[in-house]
Amino acid sequence: MGASDRVRKQLADLRGEIERHIHRYHTLDDPEISDADYDALFDRLLALEAAHPELVTPDSPSQRVGGAPAGGFAAVQHAVPMLSLDKCTTTEELDAWDARCMARLGTEDPIVYACEPKIDGVAVNLTYERGVLVRAATRGDGQTGEDVTANVRTIADVPARLSGRRLPSLIEIRGEIYIPLDGFQAFNREAAARGDKPMVNPRNGAAGSLRQLDPKITAARPLRMFAHGVGRVDGAWQPATQTEIGEALEGWGVKVNPRRTRVTGISECVGYAQTLLEARPTLGYEIDGVVIKVDDRALAETLGNVTRRPRWAIAYKYPAEEATTRLLDVEFQVGRTGAITPVARLEPVFVGGVTVSNATLHNMDEIRRLDLRIGDRVLVHRAGDVIPKVVKVVPGERGEREIELPASCPVCGAEIFRADEEAIARCSAGLDCPAQRKEALRHFASRLAMDIEGLGDKLIDQLVDGGYVASAADLYALDADTLAALPRMGEKSAANVIAAIERSKKTTLARFIYALGIREVGEATAAALAAHFGDLDAMQQADEEALVEVPDVGPIVAERIHTFCAQAANRDVIAALRKAGVNWPPVERRTGDAPLAGQTWVLTGTLESMTRNEAKARLQALGAKVAGSVSAKTSRVVAGPGAGSKLSEAETLGVPVIDEAEFIAVLAELE
Ligand code: IVH
Repeated sequence: MGASDRVRKQLADLRGEIERHIHRYHTLDDPEISDADYDALFDRLLALEAAHPELVTPDSPSQRVGGAPAGGFAAVQHAVPMLSLDKCTTTEELDAWDARCMARLGTEDPIVYACEPKIDGVAVNLTYERGVLVRAATRGDGQTGEDVTANVRTIADVPARLSGRRLPSLIEIRGEIYIPLDGFQAFNREAAARGDKPMVNPRNGAAGSLRQLDPKITAARPLRMFAHGVGRVDGAWQPATQTEIGEALEGWGVKVNPRRTRVTGISECVGYAQTLLEARPTLGYEIDGVVIKVDDRALAETLGNVTRRPRWAIAYKYPAEEATTRLLDVEFQVGRTGAITPVARLEPVFVGGVTVSNATLHNMDEIRRLDLRIGDRVLVHRAGDVIPKVVKVVPGERGEREIELPASCPVCGAEIFRADEEAIARCSAGLDCPAQRKEALRHFASRLAMDIEGLGDKLIDQLVDGGYVASAADLYALDADTLAALPRMGEKSAANVIAAIERSKKTTLARFIYALGIREVGEATAAALAAHFGDLDAMQQADEEALVEVPDVGPIVAERIHTFCAQAANRDVIAALRKAGVNWPPVERRTGDAPLAGQTWVLTGTLESMTRNEAKARLQALGAKVAGSVSAKTSRVVAGPGAGSKLSEAETLGVPVIDEAEFIAVLAELE
């Protein structure tokens, strides 16, 4: 094969592959590679075609934009083509683009730009005649889209009629339809409960929802829209700037992004992008970058377009939050309560701004649901602080090896059991299993329990593996010399840990009960138990009937507490701890009150699994007050990703701060 034949074949292969992905994405709504991987393929095609312009064919995917209409919907010709955007990922590229704009405009003054979030959704074109919505179409290939009017009419953000002054006789409004994160999570929770297929991500969910043949199904989906521009406009209205377009749209009752802004010069665009990136976890919807447009429309017109892309606008893209990689292995970890959790070991991949090599798989049911095999190519998602998750298996390149639950505990070799109805398998050895022992000690020492500073994961591993500590009580028999002799421990840190252990002796009954690590007894239940019984002996002697008297202790939790207290080994540890000097002030008994009565909570940042309002309502239902700002009287702050000044204030004032997982545990116990 000659060199040009080789290139010809390479091009044909690339085009075939890209066509297949376009079909999966646009027609089947079931992409098998991430956007970033798709972009990389496309970029390869463009580069190869640029090097061999004589081999560009009219049917190459590079010659059109997006996917062809898929049938089922009538074709709609866009009066003004829907363009796509050039993209860049570095400030250098952005500077170069800005310099090109300035050069073409023959100006040395900084350009005024309109910046706004680039919404990760589905583009639509809305046609309004005399203010009435007459048609809504998808972008399609940029020239011809699909008529999805009936579906778009079900979206509350899309007004059926515009209102206000200076309405054009005809206007095409362009925007992005998306699914907010809370709606996405709620949909998937409900889909899972019904046994239906979940949405892979919000963007796919939005695309699939728009392409339903029955608008009633679309109506039930949590779709929203932000408008970001206009196409054809008939009439006297002549906006001079992008900013003016945004203002007019807003005035007519169309949703525009509240974070859009006008800045001067490219460095202010970079500043805007940075601020927005920091706010990304709190937005409540997915964005994949910033769109930067020359604000002045006359200047934009001077710059003009090159083949379906404007020269006057650019997408400055953030690191992708999804990527594909390979599942190298699955390891099983043993938690505090013996829960055996599968963890995916991945070929390291850059996603969500960091390199990820592990992801949680939750339990065996999740592995079956994903139909996962070792060696599979998988789609991984990581956004903000969220733990990376394997979203789906990429079809085609399948792995061979089945994933089996180990026959015995991977740490201690004891038998594994799976209680009825539970998705989780557990090691049966209890505290005889070193993994459970270590986790129990970690929990005992943790901030909301005995709060032993300096007793970290590494030190606990050393203490258990070296046989120095078998139970929490053994901690109080440690001396500084023993600690100082351990690898990587200096005399000073040894002394600090001993001092912290000593300090922890003075605690509260609620903390102590929580520190015991009784299954299902989180911090709030521990507090309720302390308040109800007033002392530990009364709790230890209580039978299940007496235990269910405690607010929010149900039969299952009562059974767990009773079983825990009945076990001689647990009683021995409790006695040894008290003998070692662990003590607490007497507790005033409280009965019957709402569990969080008298407490004031503050919420900050975003929560993944519920909206701020839902969190607030649930706290109020438990008797707590929910305040908007932190003071010394605040009982607790719940901080999600993107938490700002409230978090730092809480830290200054010494108010306890918990994250979402801890908050959910509190709710689970109290509700
Ligand atoms: S303005 C000339 N603004 O990104 C095209 N587009 O990659 C002007 N998009 O097709 C587009 N958010 O569907 C613009 N705030 C935003 C956007 C946005 C998302 C989409 C749009 C466009 C694609 C280009």
